[in-house]
Amino acid sequence: MGEGQERKKGLNAMNNRVITTELMEEDQKIENHLRPQLLKDYIGQKKVKDNLKVYIEAAKARKESLDHVLLYGPPGLGKTTLAGIIANEMNVNVKITSGPAIEKPGEMAAILNNLQDGDLLFVDEIHRLNRQVEEVLYPAMEDYAIDIVIGKGATARSIRLDLPKFTLVGATTRAGMLTAPLRDRFGVVNRLEFYTNEELTDIIVRSASVLDVEINEDGARELAKRSRGTPRLANRLLKRVRDFAQVKYDGVITKEVADFALDLLEVDKLGLDHIDREILLTMIQKFNGRPVGLDTIAASIGEDSSTIEDVYEPYLIQNGLLQRTPRGRMVTDLAYEHFGLDKLV
Ligand code: ADE
Repeated sequence: MGEGQERKKGLNAMNNRVITTELMEEDQKIENHLRPQLLKDYIGQKKVKDNLKVYIEAAKARKESLDHVLLYGPPGLGKTTLAGIIANEMNVNVKITSGPAIEKPGEMAAILNNLQDGDLLFVDEIHRLNRQVEEVLYPAMEDYAIDIVIGKGATARSIRLDLPKFTLVGATTRAGMLTAPLRDRFGVVNRLEFYTNEELTDIIVRSASVLDVEINEDGARELAKRSRGTPRLANRLLKRVRDFAQVKYDGVITKEVADFALDLLEVDKLGLDHIDREILLTMIQKFNGRPVGLDTIAASIGEDSSTIEDVYEPYLIQNGLLQRTPRGRMVTDLAYEHFGLDKLV
């Protein structure tokens, strides 16, 4: 298989995973419906909420626009939701766009120029803005102005156009990929963390109530445990399990229903799917738990190395099932325990 095909196979496998944290088509409608509108309804991320509460209150008291906000962290944790909440709390309009959607500096200038005083501009995947477009943002963020060059050659001159006092909310999964000049222009920088099982349980109970689905505490807790700390995934699994509850049971999501449905969906007790399990079991059974190189693992299971590194591995490392060592990747004792297997050595 060529490199292109390898990558495609990796991406296909990733997109077919019920536990992918990337936004799937089926999530869009449900997410919009379930998004909390105000800070008081937003569960979890206490530090971020406490922070924002202060900045919002202070900006409102001074009748100023809120300072620019950068939200970063893994996908599916609520960056877009928070942007909407900030706009609601500030009583301003929100305009939503994304890094890859803006190709030319003029497009960014037009978006900025069309904002009203106080408006919030949400730029998702802000690390993917190209350099020229990003440069339009520097004076816009700092001085609420853009510089436009008129004419060519010797007669070219630059004029400064004033902008409304807007708030930029940027979101990224990779803060490390932002350029320093852009990062430094955000007055508020917040990192979103994975949610605890308790927080996810509360989110699932809230979502079930919005969707008018009956669920008991044990059912919600079981769903939470398998949702990889991610509300997007919790809500997606809730929606799938609801169908099983309706068709195979009496409509109520209990632990038994959640177990039945999630086992069928091949999402195990730790939220691992068949590819996660294949990675760990290959390392245990084929390589006897010895350190293995990333490329060797990739070749053994027919996946792309970068997909393993970017998509599968972070959750396994985060949950203490896999370690990176100087000699290669190693499974931990916890991984053996999870599969009920004994270590050879
Ligand atoms: N739905 C998705 N994320 C949520 C959150 N953090 N709080 C409440 N409901 C949510």
